[in-house]
Amino acid sequence: MDAYLWPLTTVIDDSGRLMIGGCDVVKLAHRYGTPLYLFDEATIRNACRNWRTALAAHYQGETAVHYASKALLNMALARLIADEGLGLDVVSGGELYVALRAGFPPQRIHMHGNAKTRTELEQALAAGIGQIIVDNLDELELLANLTAHRSSLQAVALRVAPDIATDTHAHIQTGHATSKFGLPLDALDAAAERLRIAPGLRLVGLHAHLGSQLFDVNPYTAEIDVLLDSAMLLRERHGLMIQEINAGGGMGIPYTADQHPLDFHTCAARLGEALTDGCRRRGFPLLRLVIEPGRSIIARAGVALYTIVATKVLPHTRFLHIDGGMGDNIRPALYGARYTAVLAERANAPVEEIVEIAGRYCESGDMLIRAIPLPRARVGDVLAVPVAGAYTLSMASTYNLTPRPAVVMVNDRSARLVQRRETYEDMVARDGGAS
Ligand code: LLP
Repeated sequence: MDAYLWPLTTVIDDSGRLMIGGCDVVKLAHRYGTPLYLFDEATIRNACRNWRTALAAHYQGETAVHYASKALLNMALARLIADEGLGLDVVSGGELYVALRAGFPPQRIHMHGNAKTRTELEQALAAGIGQIIVDNLDELELLANLTAHRSSLQAVALRVAPDIATDTHAHIQTGHATSKFGLPLDALDAAAERLRIAPGLRLVGLHAHLGSQLFDVNPYTAEIDVLLDSAMLLRERHGLMIQEINAGGGMGIPYTADQHPLDFHTCAARLGEALTDGCRRRGFPLLRLVIEPGRSIIARAGVALYTIVATKVLPHTRFLHIDGGMGDNIRPALYGARYTAVLAERANAPVEEIVEIAGRYCESGDMLIRAIPLPRARVGDVLAVPVAGAYTLSMASTYNLTPRPAVVMVNDRSARLVQRRETYEDMVARDGGAS
């Protein structure tokens, strides 16, 4: 078992059973049912602290870490993130609503999105969130109008498309010039002109996000240079001086044993150096450095548990049919994402066969894991899939009208249900004439 793929508290006990947060994983699967998503609180807190301390250690200016809540958000997680002193990025009225319901301090919330609706912008303004990150000129126009007669100023940042290539799946690249996200660099003048006559807005920063699941740090340093050049343009041509550079998220996480963790200290050090040198060269004071990790905070903390409900034998392989799949984890189908797994009751038993883990949904593409070596599995066994915390539940659907899984947080030998399993009743609750 590759330790760096599992939550920090993972151990295999003497009888070969998987234990996380001091809890017996198979017992939790039986108590709460499967599919079940387990989250290890210690691993989440550790990731938050690692990013905060690494960034502060490698940059002498002010720093802030914002958790990108699109990776996963529920009320318990919002409280934990607040407790760890991070900020929160939201990309919708829904994420903002959950954050506020959980009591997340509005001033530490940033709102993103390439298609924020008027209602969502009004919701953000009413809540008094810390920053709206403007993605295009139409949004800027709308926001300028909405804030024109307000007594307080709304802080905004401009997101630019820095035209930087990254080595990741095409669906999760965002830094290229033809991306749907961010202002083209040549639209900065127009944005600055509009900001000049927007009495309700205050420009505080520049933002870019290159893509997700990135392991190479070089594109980030190139990005910081582009953002600083843009800051220079704003200062020289428009007399606008920003205070903050936001380098976005995207730091990669290993999912399988052939991938290796990105060293967050090296990453933070390179970001810090690039911003320190870049500010110095341009005669800027040390600007505030912000990053927005999502996956690297939550992915490793999450383990998905499934029950093997049936098998199908073919001449050279077997299908193990599980009670979840693309409804709770669309990533293999959408990005060709690869995962690993163990049998939770025999976590270190020797490999006996290569099998295919088939999801329960009525699609041939619903294969959770292809060609995975496992001990001989039986119907009723619990399969545990690590690195399942990010972009799984947050992208979950009720396809085939299958209820979405429950979420349990483990810590210090205790487990608490932080989100109950969806019920059939939930699924008709929105239907007209359901009663
Ligand atoms: N900031 C912005 C503006 C973003 O768009 C994203 C992710 C992040 C931060 C956080 O990126 P992270 O650190 O989590 O990589 N569903 C895909 C990932 C989509 C990422 C979207 N944006 C997946 O499952 O791989």
